[in-house]
Order: sequence, then C-alpha cells, then structure tokens
Amino acid sequence: MLSMLNVRVERKRKVADEICSFHLVSATGEPLPPFTAGSHVDVHLPGGLVRQYSLCGDPRDSGQYVLGVLKDPASRGGSVAMHGVEEGSEIQISAPRNHFPIESGAGHTVLLAGGIGVTPLMAMAQTLFAESRSFDFHYCTRSLARTAFREVLLQGEIADHVYLHLDDGDSERFDAEATLRHCFRPDTHVYVCGPAGFIEAMLMAAKLAGYADSQVHREFFAAPKVKPAVQGNGAFQVKIRSTGVVHQILPEETVVQVLARHGIEIETSCEQGVCGTCATRVLDGVPQHRDVYLTDLERAENRLFTPCCSRSCSALLVLDL
Ligand code: FES
Repeated sequence: MLSMLNVRVERKRKVADEICSFHLVSATGEPLPPFTAGSHVDVHLPGGLVRQYSLCGDPRDSGQYVLGVLKDPASRGGSVAMHGVEEGSEIQISAPRNHFPIESGAGHTVLLAGGIGVTPLMAMAQTLFAESRSFDFHYCTRSLARTAFREVLLQGEIADHVYLHLDDGDSERFDAEATLRHCFRPDTHVYVCGPAGFIEAMLMAAKLAGYADSQVHREFFAAPKVKPAVQGNGAFQVKIRSTGVVHQILPEETVVQVLARHGIEIETSCEQGVCGTCATRVLDGVPQHRDVYLTDLERAENRLFTPCCSRSCSALLVLDL
C-alpha cells in the first residue's frame, strides 16, 4: 500500500481554456516528500475516483506540488471531478512516483509536448535549466488560448528554450522529424508526452530521424483505444510461483481482480496499462501485452507483464508472486 499524504488546495487558477492548475500544500504541517522531474501522484477524488496527474512545478520548490488538469468531458470522469475541487479543499494523494525520469547522461535533451502532455515536461525543463544542461522544449497546442502555463513558458527562466507550435498559428507546421534530425547526437535524449496519436507521430519521427529506442522516452496519459485481438482474449490460467496455486482468469476479469479475490494484492494505480505500477515478472508463458507502459524490447522479452489489463497468449502464465 502506498503511503498517503493529506494535502490542501492552496491555490487553483485557470491557466488556459479548460485547464486549471492546482497548488497543493501539506494539510498536516509535515513537509511534502521531495520529487524528481517526471513524477506523478495518484489523486483520490470525491466519489472514490483515483487519477494520476504529473507534477508540473519546479522540483526545487519543496513546499508545494503543482498539477495541471485539462477538463475533458469525454474522459472517464476524473478530470471533471478534479475541476470541481475548490481552493481550501483537503484531498488525499499518494507520495510521488517516477516512471518517466530524465536520463542523467544526456548531452542534449528534446522535450516534445502535445496539449496537456506539457505537465511532466514542465518539471523536466525547470530541472534541466537549473542544472545548466542543453535542451529544447517544443510544445504543440491548438491555439494560444489552449496553451497552459504561458507565463512560465514565455516569460520565465526557461523561455529561451521554448518553441510554441500552434495549430491555428501563422507559423509553418511543426516538422518533428526535421527538428529531431537537426539535433541528433548519440547522446541526445527525447521525451514525449501527450495524446496517444501525438505520441505515436513523435515516436515515428524520432525513428525516421535515426534515434534508437533507448534514446526516446514517452509517457501516455491514457491507454489508446485498441481493438482487442481475438487471440488470447479468452480464458487462461495463472500459476503463483510461491504457492503453486493455479487460478482461472475468465474473459471478463483481469488477473488483478481474480488474484485480489483470493487474497493476493497487486499494487495498482491507473488500472489501464499506463503507469506500470502493477508490472509483474513472468516466469513462464507468453503474455498478450495490452499496456502502453512496457517498451518494445520489454514486450519482446516477455519477462514482465501488466496484470491490470494484459492477458495471455499461452494457456498458462507463471507469475513471480
Ligand atoms: Fe497502471 Fe497496471 S496499474 S499499468
């Protein structure tokens, strides 16, 4: 079980159309745990929803956590509930976790943000600036009105590194492949965050520009909508290494749900294959990966799988539990 923090919304303000920032401070007087750029927290919302939001403030500022949240009525309801949280409210959050850290040895870093995907990259930009490291920050949005954190981006200390690309602007369309090709070096690292279509386009641009998979890092906010493959979509079994007990997983259930019913708790967070919290070692069998967390190499190795959403191609998976 993750440790929980009681925080108060000290400040809430609109930072763009449909986007609010939330400044969270400790509600108990206990200092907030430090965090590194790329971290996120689980926010426990009224009504029992739990959602993950990246910390977009400056990691040097230890007194508060800042979240940026896009209100998306088409989402699963978390962002609408979050926008209903008012200044002065107290909420519970998890301690920060980081599945999207900055590579310390990079000679140059390129940050590519699409829409609200700007949030973790804001913290990265501030860290890279504080460490006097070489970086460029490209932020693609629909319009200036939809561009969050304009003050920090255009007038703050990182402004010289920021390139805004607006869908409705006069400037030419952002050519990600040419941009990435221009700054290619073996030690250049690229970080991408945004909607699934944006991420896929940026990953393709990086590949075409000659980047190795190990140079490109991405964070999804939600799992892309994919049609479930027919193969592996049915029932299968999982065997628990420590006890030898075999459990049947029916088509309508996840491994996490079945094991929880039998007293085996696997820590989860997003429950849709995005965050990697539930990643579990596979000792035998072939998973059918349905997450967007594992890298292509990790998928091919089949040593890990995400039991909150993934299934099995083989009749049996042996899990290191
Ligand atoms: Fe997030 Fe499984 S809980 S990937």
